[in-house]
Amino acid sequence: MYNVDDIRKDFPIFCDTINGKPNVYLDTAASAQKPECVINRMCETYRHTYANVHRGGYFLSEHITFEYEKARENIAHFINARNKSEIIFTRNATESINLVAATWAQTYLKANDEILISEAEHHANLIPWQIIAQKCAAQLKVFKLGDDGSFIWEEFEKALTDKVKLLSVTAMSNVLGTIYPVKQMCAAAHKKGATVLVDACQYAVHEQIDVQNIDCDFLAFSGHKLYGPTGIGILYGKQEILEALPPYQTGGDMVDHVSYHKTTFAEPPARFEAGTPACVQAIGLSEAIDYVKNIGLDHIKKHEEQLIKYFIERSKDSKGFKLISKNINQGGVFAFDFNGIHPQDLAFVLFHEGVAIRVGHHCAEPFVNRLGYTSLPRVSFGLYTNFKDIDTFFEILEKARRFF
Ligand code: ALA
Repeated sequence: MYNVDDIRKDFPIFCDTINGKPNVYLDTAASAQKPECVINRMCETYRHTYANVHRGGYFLSEHITFEYEKARENIAHFINARNKSEIIFTRNATESINLVAATWAQTYLKANDEILISEAEHHANLIPWQIIAQKCAAQLKVFKLGDDGSFIWEEFEKALTDKVKLLSVTAMSNVLGTIYPVKQMCAAAHKKGATVLVDACQYAVHEQIDVQNIDCDFLAFSGHKLYGPTGIGILYGKQEILEALPPYQTGGDMVDHVSYHKTTFAEPPARFEAGTPACVQAIGLSEAIDYVKNIGLDHIKKHEEQLIKYFIERSKDSKGFKLISKNINQGGVFAFDFNGIHPQDLAFVLFHEGVAIRVGHHCAEPFVNRLGYTSLPRVSFGLYTNFKDIDTFFEILEKARRFF
């Protein structure tokens, strides 16, 4: 039985007030709050078992190396990777995507090849391809979505020409919460011989990822959105693809042998993890994944579905409230317009009442423009969001309407 009140007790931040008001945190899509177990696990590691990984011949180093590699195994299991060497620890999803751009794309893209992305991409899944397309004289193509951000198969198919060598798409919009059919897109792209990268930053929090089922070649997500720490991201890559790639960055721990004039590189994943990694963060992320698994992604999803239903119903009673997305296939992320009130002004009123939302272009400026806006307010839910948060949000909106 999902008891959101009990779950909230796991998150110390909700013991504090904001401006003397309860903390109504509706910005989980930007970054999730952290449960006590993750905070404790990282503190305990720093207090009692910290050393560098893969380097020392002594207990602490061996111990943390074991924990770091166990975290990798846990994450591999969580996303159903075939084995743990398909999991590369990065700084965040942005670095994961940049890694693919700097290694895979730089190696394989040739002049006139096409990189295909959707209109809904976050800057992190757009700018690396702009840069690499320039470097390789390749073309960056953007396939159209509906005016409400919905997926249109015909538009995708039309854009998926034989020239497309890379399809890089989000599985869930960080602006609208729309979930996109990545498995089907992946199959269609593979038929054309293209490689596929999935940006699963938002999706990882709302759906169970199964990389073998999706059959993507690469998949990226961040730890901090999944109730883990900042400074840790994941790049999944199919083993045979990773094995054929050159290193991303060079330095310590990613080598086989080094002489003054020549270096041979380690097998993946070490080849892509130059320098001291964020080992404590990796352990923290693994703890967060255990936390999520213990609650059960199915239960979390059911809770989220109820929140979504309640939010949509509640929004119908709010005069001048317009949801941007009309999708049925939707996670708990909603951009909206409220009586044309400037999003910054709205956020200001909400913030004074303890309600946190994100406003702006959400690092997806072309997409927000495509939707007809320059800035949008957005609410997003986490596993700790409750109905009262939604009630408070709409109550404060009413105040804002009278105010403006
Ligand atoms: N990508 C994060 C967001 O959508 C930061 O807010």
